[in-house]
Amino acid sequence: MIYLTRVEHFNAAHKLFNPQWSKEQNLEVFGKCANDNWHGHNYELHVTVKGEPDPETGFVFNAKTLGVLIKDVIVEKLDHKNLNMDVDFMKDKFTSAENVAIAIWEQLQQHLPDTVQLHCIRLHETPKIYVEYYGGK
Ligand code: NI
Repeated sequence: MIYLTRVEHFNAAHKLFNPQWSKEQNLEVFGKCANDNWHGHNYELHVTVKGEPDPETGFVFNAKTLGVLIKDVIVEKLDHKNLNMDVDFMKDKFTSAENVAIAIWEQLQQHLPDTVQLHCIRLHETPKIYVEYYGGK
């Protein structure tokens, strides 16, 4: 089993808030991410797939094809968008890095061929914070 990672970027706005809570409580839990008038992050996305090298190419999956797939399925939908308002697959979800990573997994999973498996979605929200999702619970 060999693992291949492709790194892509996108910039997006969001706001983390729980409408059931007071403004103070939202600020307490979500900090700057609860800012009323939105804010942006420079996200860095690492997509790792795994499988066996193809005997004809030596590739587990063509890295260029993976890049095009990530751009078409994910980056086009998220880049320069408001994650709370503009993205169909984030509708009615908290736009935490955790939930964005899980949603990215679910979107990409549908487009990968049977010859390769998704292994990890790693999403950097800031240089100091990232999440990793390996599928499942
Ligand atoms: Ni934020």
